[in-house]
Amino acid sequence: MHTLRDGIPVPHVGFGTYPLRGEEGIEAMVSALEVGYRYLDTAVNYENEPEVGEALRRSGLPREDVLVATKIPGRAHRRDAAITSVEESLERLGLEQVDVALVHWPNPSQGHYVEAVEALIECRDRGLVRYVGTSNYTESHLREVLAATGEAPVLNQVECHPLFPQQEMLRVHEELGVLTQAWSPLGKREAQYDAAPVTEAAERAGVSPAQVILRWHLERGVMPLPKSGTRSRQESNLDVLGFELVPEEVEAITALGRPDGRLFDGDPETHEEM
Ligand SMILES: NC(=O)c1ccc[n+]([C@@H]2O[C@H](COP(=O)([O-])OP(=O)(O)OC[C@H]3O[C@@H](n4cnc5c(N)ncnc54)[C@H](OP(=O)(O)O)[C@@H]3O)[C@@H](O)[C@H]2O)c1
Repeated sequence: MHTLRDGIPVPHVGFGTYPLRGEEGIEAMVSALEVGYRYLDTAVNYENEPEVGEALRRSGLPREDVLVATKIPGRAHRRDAAITSVEESLERLGLEQVDVALVHWPNPSQGHYVEAVEALIECRDRGLVRYVGTSNYTESHLREVLAATGEAPVLNQVECHPLFPQQEMLRVHEELGVLTQAWSPLGKREAQYDAAPVTEAAERAGVSPAQVILRWHLERGVMPLPKSGTRSRQESNLDVLGFELVPEEVEAITALGRPDGRLFDGDPETHEEM
C-alpha cells in the first residue's frame, strides 16, 4: 500500500513495539507477526531489541518477509558513535542487517543531525542497513540533509494523530519523496475515539473508532505504527483495508487537529532525547 522512493513496497500498517519488553513483550510481538504484521518498529532506547530479534526467530517467518526498523539515540549522532550504535543494534537483534535505520530525534542544540544521517548512509553502503530514515526531523532538518548528502531519508517518522495531523509536514514529505510514518497514530491516551467525526464514520462503515483513525492515516498516505499488546486489537488495527473513508470524513477528522495537540511537549525544535 505504501512505497519507498525507489518503489520498494512497505506494509500499510507497521507494529510499534514500545514499551513491550521481556517474555510478555516477546509473546506480544510473536502474536503481532502471527496475525500478519510484517514491519516491526524498535529503537535502541526502547531497550527491547533482543526481544524483537527473538520474536522474529520464534515466529518462524523467513527473514526477508519482515522489515525491521531501529533508531539510533541522541547520544550517538557523531559518525563513529552512530556506526557503533548500528553494529550493537544488529548484535542485540541477532541480525546481519536492519531494513531501516533511523535517527530517533534531531536534537538541534547538539547540531549533529546531518552527520548522524551521513553515518547511516555509510552503514547502508557497508550493507548493515537497507534504508536510511529519520524521526522527528523538521522541514529545515530534512532540507539540510538533502543539501549535504544529495538525498532525503526514505521516511520520516513523526507524531501524527487526529489532534496533531501534521498537514504541513505531509506536504513537505510529499515534495521530497519521503514516506510519512505516524508515531502514536491512535493518539495514545488522548485517542479521539468519542469525537463525532470518528464515531460517525465508524457507524457508517461498520468498524471501530480505532479502525477509522488508522484508515484516516492511510487515506492521507501515512503509514501508522500502532502498538498493542492485545491480540484482538492487533488484528483489528491491521484490518483496515476492507473499507474506505470519503474525503469529507477525512477532512472532518483532520479538523480535530489543534496547534497544541501534541501528546507531550515533543516539539523537535526544543524537545531532545539522548
Ligand atoms: N519516533 C518517536 O519518537 C516515537 C515516539 C513515540 C512512539 N513511537 C513509536 O510509535 C509506536 C506507537 O505509539 P504509541 O504506543 O505511543 O501510541 P498508539 O499506538 O497511538 O497507542 C497505543 C495505546 O493504544 C492502545 N490501543 C492499541 N490499539 C487499540 C485499539 N484498537 N483500541 C483501543 N486502544 C488501543 C494500546 O493499548 P494495548 O496495548 O493494551 O492494546 C496502547 O495503550 C510506539 O510503539 C513506537 O514504536 C515513536
